[in-house]
Amino acid sequence: MHKWWRSAAIYQLYVRSFADGNGDGTGDLPGARERLPYLAGLGVDAIWFNPWYPSPMSDAGYDISDYRGIEPVFGTLADADALIGEAHSLGIRIIVDVVPNHASDQHRWFTEALAAGPGSAARDRFWFRPGRGPGGDQPPNNWQSIFGGPAWTRVTEPDGSPGEWYLHLFAPQQPDFNWGNASVRAEFEDVLRFWFGRGVDGIRIDSGALLTKDPRLPDIATGQPPGPAHPYSDRDDVHDIYRSWRAIADEYPGRVLIGEIWLPDATRLARYVNPGELHTVFNFPYLSCPWDAAELRRVIDQTLALGAPATWVLSNHDVDRIVSRYGRADTAFSLDRRRYFHNFPGDVELGTRRARAAALLTMALPGSVYIYQGEELGLWEVQDIADELRQDPIWRRTNGADPGRDGSRVPLPWSGTEPPFGFSPTGAAHEPWLPQPKEWRDLTVEAETANAGSMLRLYQDALRIRRSAPALGDGPMSWLPAAPTVLAFDRMPATAVAGTSAVRCVANLSPTPITLPPHATMLLTSGPLTDGLLPPDTTAWLRV
Ligand code: GLC
Repeated sequence: MHKWWRSAAIYQLYVRSFADGNGDGTGDLPGARERLPYLAGLGVDAIWFNPWYPSPMSDAGYDISDYRGIEPVFGTLADADALIGEAHSLGIRIIVDVVPNHASDQHRWFTEALAAGPGSAARDRFWFRPGRGPGGDQPPNNWQSIFGGPAWTRVTEPDGSPGEWYLHLFAPQQPDFNWGNASVRAEFEDVLRFWFGRGVDGIRIDSGALLTKDPRLPDIATGQPPGPAHPYSDRDDVHDIYRSWRAIADEYPGRVLIGEIWLPDATRLARYVNPGELHTVFNFPYLSCPWDAAELRRVIDQTLALGAPATWVLSNHDVDRIVSRYGRADTAFSLDRRRYFHNFPGDVELGTRRARAAALLTMALPGSVYIYQGEELGLWEVQDIADELRQDPIWRRTNGADPGRDGSRVPLPWSGTEPPFGFSPTGAAHEPWLPQPKEWRDLTVEAETANAGSMLRLYQDALRIRRSAPALGDGPMSWLPAAPTVLAFDRMPATAVAGTSAVRCVANLSPTPITLPPHATMLLTSGPLTDGLLPPDTTAWLRV
């Protein structure tokens, strides 16, 4: 079986912001279906859909009330089936997001648990505990929600009395499942089969390091690192779940499991891609890395040393857009930086130049690559969304201290010169669910298609070359001697194919132009050369 996921260019499609088919201001599956030819033209091999299931949208669909359906605002199961079929006929595979750490508080199991009361089997599917202190009015332990505030919420019992507390590592509307409960395990194994059976090619596992908890629910020490001794992050017992999931995936040829394992330590990440577990994990060390040659080289080497198929990710729906990030004084990303950097405009021109260079660097690395929707247009992080329009629970739960993730989730501009820029059909009754900057008139798909120097044209060219050159995608790479501020490496076809040659990639992260290494022809550059030299913040692909 062709291991497509080892080389694939995977487009992350954030449904509610991609394309609105029915004019209600929210993206949907019919909108996505209409735009599949755009994605085929872009040259991607697969699409990862953020959650498309029925959801009260307390966390933009990461609060799922039915794992086997489609959110009515997005469409129907028939739309999903049609979309999967149409994508396949265009040669595009489909990956769906599964969220196993928590459900929505509107999930049938959770409403049953509330009604069933303390000590019931229904409550054992989640983490219900009595509170501490007199009257049980303190949370059962000191865990904090990743979105801010305590990780526990107290319920009112069916008889009206103040009752137990339940655990939610994210928002209160996202109660955590108890993975020690056999029915939880059985349920998700069935969910996997449900979607594989409908033809999806891969599953992205949300919050994949957090599933299992120490059943004693001990207090957590400040700064306690993820790992076997941590009460809920990166525990050893999570691997047992992935071994059983892998056995299921293997029943369906060509299907893959991709983990969202947000761990800073590459060696801990490696355990998830041990034989018999996940196929790949998202590369968060690369995503967080500053625009710095030495740091990038270190992360690239560490990634390749994992011995598992690499993924290269520059951004996603949870982090700042790269054009904005790379235009800042500090180009690293971490979740706690957002609250500081959103107060400054950043240098979009510099950020765009670097984002172009980073795109070519990333697409030349060995492995698969993820492209978050809108990065191919060079969209920036929208930092000035009015408070009353913000929807991210992070914003609310931190009382506005953290601006949250809405700025990277603004609906895409497709065409025309004013909002909604073709995101919604002409004459739509509703505005896009988040307002689009009017300056995006220059960044629509239509405008960028007509502009040979646009980000879109760069992505199209790069993906076309990447797909046709046997040296790119999966396979070996070797560093070339270069200054510490320059990244230069060769990609060779894994097996010698007649008439194919190596591709040489050179990224100049220094402040001065550099001489290009020897080459036969120039394949692509992220920006024009100056006097035959490669300018700062520019990448070239060369044929040798
Ligand atoms: C993941 C998702 C994020 C979501 C969280 C809780 O990190 O990418 O968007 O809010 O999990 O499900």
